[in-house]
Amino acid sequence: MPPNSVFAPAKINLTLHVTGQRGDGYHLLDSLVAFADVGDHLQVEPAPEMRLSVTGPRAEGVPGDARNLCWRAAEWFGRPAAITLEKHLPAAAGIGGGSSNAAAVLRALSALTGRPLPEQGTEALGADVPVCLAARAARMSGIGEQVQAVALPDLHAVLVNPGVGVATPAVFKALEKKDNPPMSALPEAADWNAWLAAQRNDLQAPAIAVQPVIAEVLAALAATKGARLARMSGSGATCFALYDSRAEAQAAAEDLRRAQPRWWIAPCTLS
Ligand code: C5P
Repeated sequence: MPPNSVFAPAKINLTLHVTGQRGDGYHLLDSLVAFADVGDHLQVEPAPEMRLSVTGPRAEGVPGDARNLCWRAAEWFGRPAAITLEKHLPAAAGIGGGSSNAAAVLRALSALTGRPLPEQGTEALGADVPVCLAARAARMSGIGEQVQAVALPDLHAVLVNPGVGVATPAVFKALEKKDNPPMSALPEAADWNAWLAAQRNDLQAPAIAVQPVIAEVLAALAATKGARLARMSGSGATCFALYDSRAEAQAAAEDLRRAQPRWWIAPCTLS
């Protein structure tokens, strides 16, 4: 891909443990994050002034101005840019759309200008931006600013979003217990399915309280043939299920599409 063409993958929180809260209200997290081979596509060119055009199947409602994290990322990097954002991922969906877009803009501007990416501080744009800059499986902690690469095998998944936006602050607000245990020690090479099943997303219950349809999505995913685990990503509403093969994920996605033609359903590989 030329340096001005960048892919912004969906970010999936395979686990999301909320372990505490800072004085400023931000929550401490312990999360295993992976990235999908589905996502948004961006074109980025240095330009005399900022310009953003949003296209693609999920463009509706996405701001084309300084409210968009893409725009703020370019300003934060200190280089105005002309950006085309081809939106495929649902917004306000718990899969890091905005953060992944911002990380893609930072990567492109760094490649185009030869200026290295900043090592620190990108969490100021959004707590998920540091992990999205890595764009590979990682353990994320702090409020998101600590990112440690994890050797994760490729995982086959289906992502499902029922078409309701969820505001992250509302979900954190509905979370009753903020000091939950962290993830258990990562498995060596062995059974990721068993390990993942023993971990949690602490935001799942409060998100269901805010948007009950999430429980329906989880039940539908869990009932698909071959589903090993069904869980919500981030603060929702997108949920995922894991399968042993791409073919099983594909078949599950087709069954779900027949049953729920209005849901956003994406079979994918996570890495
Ligand atoms: O950083 P980001 O814009 O993604 O966060 C959205 C909101 O989610 C924050 O304003 C905050 O209310 C909540 N949040 C949090 N702790 C985190 C990340 C986000 O409380 N680690």
